[in-house]
Amino acid sequence: MHPAAAKLVLLVVAATAAAACSFSPPAAATAGATHALEDSGARCLPHERDALLAFKQGITIDDDGFLASWRRGQEEEEDCCRWRGVTCSNRTGHVVELDLSDSGLEGQISPSLIYLEQLEYLDLSWNGFNGSIPAFVGCFKNLRYQNLSHTSFTGEVPHQLGNLSNLRELDLAGSFMLYSHMHATNLSWLAHMHYLEYLDMSYINLSMVVDWPSVINTIPSMESLQLSGCSLPGTSQSMTQLNLTRLVELDVSNNYFGNPLGTSNALEFFGSMENIRYLDLSGTSILSGRVPPHLGNLSNLRHLGLGSLHNTMYATDISWLTHLQQLEYLDMGNVNLSTITDWPLVVNMIPSLKVLYLIECSLQSANQSLAHLNLTKLEELDLSLNYFGHPIASCWFWKNNMTGVLPDMVEHLSSLEILMLSNNSISGTISAGILKLTKLQALFLALNRLNGQIPLLPKNLRTLDIAMNNFSGHLPVEFGAPHLEVIVLSSNHITGHVPRSIFKLQKLSFLDLTNNSFYRELPIMPNLLSCLLLSNNRFSGKFPSWLKSFSKLVFLDLSWNNLDGTLPIWIGDLAGLTILQLDHNMFYGDIPVTITNLIQLQLLNLASNNLSGPTPQSLSNIIGMTTKAPKREWIEFSERLTDVLSVVMKHQELKYHSDGISDMVVIDLSLNHLTGEIPNEITSLDGLVSLNLSWNHLSGKIPKNIGAMKSLESLELSRNNISGEMPAGLSDLTF
Ligand SMILES: *[C@@H]1O[C@H](CO)[C@@H](O)[C@H](O)[C@H]1NC(C)=O
Ligand SMILES: *[C@@H]1O[C@H](CO)[C@@H](O)[C@H](O)[C@H]1NC(C)=O
Ligand SMILES: *[C@@H]1O[C@H](CO)[C@@H](O)[C@H](O)[C@H]1NC(C)=O
Ligand SMILES: *[C@@H]1O[C@H](CO)[C@@H](O)[C@H](O)[C@H]1NC(C)=O
Ligand SMILES: *[C@@H]1O[C@H](CO)[C@@H](O)[C@H](O)[C@H]1NC(C)=O
Ligand SMILES: *[C@@H]1O[C@H](CO)[C@@H](O)[C@H](O)[C@H]1NC(C)=O
Ligand SMILES: *[C@@H]1O[C@H](CO)[C@@H](O)[C@H](O)[C@H]1NC(C)=O
Ligand SMILES: *[C@@H]1O[C@H](CO)[C@@H](O)[C@H](O)[C@H]1NC(C)=O
Ligand SMILES: *[C@@H]1O[C@H](CO)[C@@H](O)[C@H](O)[C@H]1NC(C)=O
Ligand SMILES: *[C@@H]1O[C@H](CO)[C@@H](O)[C@H](O)[C@H]1NC(C)=O
Ligand SMILES: *[C@@H]1O[C@H](CO)[C@@H](O)[C@H](O)[C@H]1NC(C)=O
Ligand SMILES: *[C@@H]1O[C@H](CO)[C@@H](O)[C@H](O)[C@H]1NC(C)=O
Repeated sequence: MHPAAAKLVLLVVAATAAAACSFSPPAAATAGATHALEDSGARCLPHERDALLAFKQGITIDDDGFLASWRRGQEEEEDCCRWRGVTCSNRTGHVVELDLSDSGLEGQISPSLIYLEQLEYLDLSWNGFNGSIPAFVGCFKNLRYQNLSHTSFTGEVPHQLGNLSNLRELDLAGSFMLYSHMHATNLSWLAHMHYLEYLDMSYINLSMVVDWPSVINTIPSMESLQLSGCSLPGTSQSMTQLNLTRLVELDVSNNYFGNPLGTSNALEFFGSMENIRYLDLSGTSILSGRVPPHLGNLSNLRHLGLGSLHNTMYATDISWLTHLQQLEYLDMGNVNLSTITDWPLVVNMIPSLKVLYLIECSLQSANQSLAHLNLTKLEELDLSLNYFGHPIASCWFWKNNMTGVLPDMVEHLSSLEILMLSNNSISGTISAGILKLTKLQALFLALNRLNGQIPLLPKNLRTLDIAMNNFSGHLPVEFGAPHLEVIVLSSNHITGHVPRSIFKLQKLSFLDLTNNSFYRELPIMPNLLSCLLLSNNRFSGKFPSWLKSFSKLVFLDLSWNNLDGTLPIWIGDLAGLTILQLDHNMFYGDIPVTITNLIQLQLLNLASNNLSGPTPQSLSNIIGMTTKAPKREWIEFSERLTDVLSVVMKHQELKYHSDGISDMVVIDLSLNHLTGEIPNEITSLDGLVSLNLSWNHLSGKIPKNIGAMKSLESLELSRNNISGEMPAGLSDLTF
């Protein structure tokens, strides 16, 4: 028979067979099968290959070319067992698996599929098939797995499915977004599925299936039941008719059952779930009042969804959560937790928790307890619509291994105040759509693979941390966010000059442009800055004169640039300076004697410049380098922003010293042209850990009393003209 004619026969036969599941393929096709197996060595049976080709004909859209390998051609190509998504039995050559999930197909399912009579596995999920589920899907007697979820089928779920008596897993779920237009009126056919373990009919309208609990009870092997958003009929009371002893997974979320269960019924309900691992009652009206602590008995729980808008629920104690040692997902949205102040501690004690939704829970946490929340293990956190008394009122947060591009959905979270996506693998650019987040106050995107230019920022942004990405290009001429307080752009490839408009950011207190390719002179900056970190760029010009009025400055790092000129006398007026790094520039002239007025200084690095003249005397003024110095908490210099800065400072700590920057007490004047003797007063700096005066022209002797520098771990004096004997005190340097 001519192939085209054979196909026609096949289609006609298939169309009539669809209702009756007649499996006798046309004679020609069967003969071909034997022929193919014997002669060509191809494993594929011709009538099954033709059935697949007929299926392909029903597909109108295959944009991804998923079915490109499905075609006639040379012998190899005709072997449908090698086609994408097709798996055959090694023994018989029959197609046993068809996996076309998420392959972008649209069109109609051809009844020719019924010729795949040995099919055991059928996955057509996430495609756009129209019409209703064809009745012939009930024909695959050997089918163990059928996944038709997230397809766009409409109409009634066919009762013929009940003929799939070997089925273990049946997934027909629609989704919340793609509301299924399927319904069922009578599910009694489920009773024929004696081996069914998994049933997902979420978002199928089951409002007419009054007897659903008893129908489910007739399936002896049922372990996992997903009926989210099914308009399930009945009352909360009907839930108690469900035989829960076997169930490992139960999802009846997003169904409204009217009056909630009374306390004793609720306890009975939970009491019968011995094996439950996945329980989702969110968006139902099953519970009200106090969340029963008995939930703590369900020690196998991985997933617990209780969030609901329907009823008033509250908890006065959530310590029972700590019994759920396997819990990975917790949703208690809209449960009033206002009296529970230790909730971050409880959350920390659930070791496997990855996803936490506490949306609109009246959470209280006016103090820093939120900072105690152990975020390292969480992948998703939503604390929106709570009031913490400080800006973390709404927070959307993902962590760990998030890949892909910055989700577009972020733009739609218009009430978002904090977006923390640091330390993921997000790529792509920040789109201009970010401007829509008019409430956004803090944006943390550090340690990702983002690229492109920094866009205009949303107008209420206060904190921007996008360190350690691949951003490039110039900064925008205007930032668009006049209230910016923290800008961290370190370790990117940003170039050009810093725009003059930075002066307009009158609240700016932390600016970190380290490790980029900025050049030209620094523009005038706003004078509330406490941290100005510009290291490792190509900035040129003199020591900025506008710094004179920067009384709040704590941390100034201009190292590794092309700055020159002399250091100003007024540098001694920057009384709050604790870290001063000017090394690896081209500064010349004397070190101003006023530098010893910086009594809080802990780290002074002027190495590798062209400085000359004597080392300043009066070093004993610098209390910051003595053991009398108060231990400095690096967070203290911006009380308003403690949470934010603790994150930012983590970068700095890593960069400078593994034990934390606060332990570093250093003077490094090496690689200059300093002359004269080492001042004796230096020995009063008993907190100094490292002193480097090497590669200068220093003369005279090593101070006798050097043994008094009890903290010294490193002393470099080489490449000078120092003479005389090693003082005996050196041996007192125990480190
Ligand atoms: C069929 O053969 C392939 C390759 O030899 C092998 O990987 C596969 O496991 C076999 N399948 C079955 C069901 O035996
Ligand atoms: C399926 O879609 C095709 C093309 O989009 C259309 O012609 C056909 O009428 C649709 N069939 C049903 C049953 O909706
Ligand atoms: C069905 O397919 C969807 C999407 O491909 C998947 O998420 C789901 O887990 C599958 N169902 C079962 C029971 O495997
Ligand atoms: C399918 O099941 C129905 C009963 O639900 C039965 O009448 C019919 O004969 C079955 N069809 C096949 C092909 O087994
Ligand atoms: C559902 O269908 C079965 C078989 O067709 C029938 O016996 C039963 O009465 C129906 N149930 C309801 C509630 O209509
Ligand atoms: C479900 O079906 C019932 C009865 O046909 C209808 O009244 C109801 O609106 C449907 N529910 C949804 C969510 O479509
Ligand atoms: C519930 O299911 C279990 C396990 O299959 C069975 O032993 C028990 O009798 C059932 N209970 C009811 C009330 O049907
Ligand atoms: C279940 O939890 C409640 C309250 O925490 C407790 O009183 C009860 O003894 C527990 N029951 C079992 C069987 O563990
Ligand atoms: C939560 O409970 C507290 C204390 O019972 C109450 O004052 C508050 O109004 C409740 N919050 C909401 C949103 O109902
Ligand atoms: C801060 O919150 C913790 C609970 O996380 C609480 O124990 C402590 O008393 C609170 N401190 C103040 C000053 O409110
Ligand atoms: C948070 O979790 C990480 C990783 O599990 C752990 O190393 C860290 O000690 C925890 N922190 C707190 C405060 O519990
Ligand atoms: C993150 O990805 C790495 C590599 O792909 C993998 O080894 C690791 O298990 C993932 N971690 C999590 C928490 O998914």
